[in-house]
Amino acid sequence: MKRDIYLMDERSSVDNYKLSMSLVVPRPIAWIGTFNADGSVNLAPYALFSVVCTDPMMMQFASRSPKDSYKNAKREGAFTVHIPTVSQKPKVAITSQEFPEGESEADAVGMSWTKAPNVNAPIMDDAGVAFECEVHTFVELETSVLTIGEVRAIHVDPTIMAADGMADFKKLNPLSKLGRNQWGKTEDFI
Ligand SMILES: Cc1cc2nc3c(=O)[nH]c(=O)nc-3n(C[C@H](O)[C@H](O)[C@H](O)COP(=O)(O)O)c2cc1C
Repeated sequence: MKRDIYLMDERSSVDNYKLSMSLVVPRPIAWIGTFNADGSVNLAPYALFSVVCTDPMMMQFASRSPKDSYKNAKREGAFTVHIPTVSQKPKVAITSQEFPEGESEADAVGMSWTKAPNVNAPIMDDAGVAFECEVHTFVELETSVLTIGEVRAIHVDPTIMAADGMADFKKLNPLSKLGRNQWGKTEDFI
């Protein structure tokens, strides 16, 4: 197979970013919930997100510079991961904007919340899926920082569960991120 080779060191970081983000697709989106210092709710999408290990269950999101979700998780020792649906895309996009300090993204998109029962972070009432995560480790990677949390509890809307005790993919209907300004709809599978 003929392939072109792009050497990272010979290109700008923006070009490397754009190319890689169009190749590693679809990326699941974690809608991260944390408490700000004043107790208001911070909600922001992170697609540099993954399950890092399963026993114990840990998840990570990468902040491409120390952003509020990371700072809040560090101060409070916890965060929540919500899995947004395709229909929640407009709200997810709004919560990716930078809000003035003390202004809640959850309020801005009209989402009510409650404190998670097992960790000090908020859970959105409207989320079909939420993972309660206790901070385990931070990994500093040059300009970025990974926040790794151990999952303490998983909240799932029973209507998206299948009889085998797992989620029904079509009912979950997760939103994902592709390259450019494109978002993925993942309604089907083989
Ligand atoms: C779908 C989507 C995925 C994103 N993924 C990331 C990511 O993985 N890492 C990151 O640093 N920013 C990411 N961003 C940008 C952040 O959401 C944005 O900078 C946000 O303001 C960060 O909020 P915070 O400072 O409250 O944490 C993403 C934006 C969108 C729309």
